[in-house]
Amino acid sequence: MSYTANPERYDKMEYRRCGKSGLKLPAVSLGLWHNFGHIDNFENARNILRLAFDNGITHFDLANNYGPPPGSAEENFGKIFKDDFKNYRDELIISSKAGWGMWPGPYGDWGSKKYLVASLDQSLKRMGLDYVDIFYHHRPDPETPLEETMTALDLIVRQGKALYVGISSYQSEEAANAIEILKQLGTPCLIHQPKYSMFVRWVEDANQPNKMSLLDVLEKEGVGCIPFSPLAQGLLTDKYLNGIPKDSRAASHRGNGAIEEEAITEENIIKVKKLNELAIKRGQTLAQMALAWILKDPRITSVLIGVSKPEQVTDSIKCINNYKFSDEELRQINEILK
Ligand SMILES: NC(=O)c1ccc[n+]([C@@H]2O[C@H](COP(=O)([O-])OP(=O)(O)OC[C@H]3O[C@@H](n4cnc5c(N)ncnc54)[C@H](OP(=O)(O)O)[C@@H]3O)[C@@H](O)[C@H]2O)c1
Repeated sequence: MSYTANPERYDKMEYRRCGKSGLKLPAVSLGLWHNFGHIDNFENARNILRLAFDNGITHFDLANNYGPPPGSAEENFGKIFKDDFKNYRDELIISSKAGWGMWPGPYGDWGSKKYLVASLDQSLKRMGLDYVDIFYHHRPDPETPLEETMTALDLIVRQGKALYVGISSYQSEEAANAIEILKQLGTPCLIHQPKYSMFVRWVEDANQPNKMSLLDVLEKEGVGCIPFSPLAQGLLTDKYLNGIPKDSRAASHRGNGAIEEEAITEENIIKVKKLNELAIKRGQTLAQMALAWILKDPRITSVLIGVSKPEQVTDSIKCINNYKFSDEELRQINEILK
């Protein structure tokens, strides 16, 4: 059936300015790392994307290697985009990335200009797009000069293949260097995509060589921040409280970095149970509280969620209804996470 977007889609979502740029992103964005590949149910993927957009989620995040198999999330997204979202292109922020291994040989991985330019061309073909809104370098490359990688991002923008560029998983000092090079090239870094959740808090850590946390660097430079895996891949929800459900990511053995059963440890579940009790006291699900806990910081532009079912979109976006925490609640959370 053809799709017409919900006319009330912009009524409830909050849009936050991305650093000091002109661009605003929804407080909750949707990533297609898992559940959108050829091994997944195509109609489920379509339903998730429609529901997300109907609720004001204007930003979909992809990468060359999302699937499995690699590339298939972009292919499926391309099909759904053509059927459902073509008329809404100017209402959407679509991102892709390159930086992890994508094709054999020396030019299909890391951060050379050769790899980034070729990879984005492939991504655009798979998605049937003329341009992406944001193109990221997916992870730092210790061997390629940072100048080359950043010059490739600058080139891609000048070619009109991306409107903005970002970096992902760069530590604080290397992020500061990349941001400086991009500034000199005249293509400011729009956004950084780090892993950040109640369980993974390195972005707050000021013990980096430059004595600034990543969040401090981004604030100082006016760069946005969109944390990935904010639910620790599902661990920070109520799904693993009583064992590992068959339809969960941990049980699916998807590979490609997906959470494994070994991560669902007794120690983690004790913490999750305590967090869940606190969430109930706040009148939230644990997923909502874990996302709200990230959104409480004004340096955060958007939380980048993944979902396997449409109901998870409906549940998770309610995090924007309450992301204020009392000092006592924050103290209790820190105590639980110790
Ligand atoms: N830049 C990078 O290097 C990088 C790396 C990883 C991810 N990312 C980006 O970040 C996005 C999100 O990552 P992620 O999928 O790991 O995020 P996540 O939000 O931490 O985990 C998503 C999983 O949590 C569970 N879930 C979500 N909402 C739920 C709810 N309301 N109730 C119960 N369970 C819920 C689902 O697990 P089940 O599947 O078990 O139902 C879902 O698949 C990716 O799609 C990608 O765009 C970027």
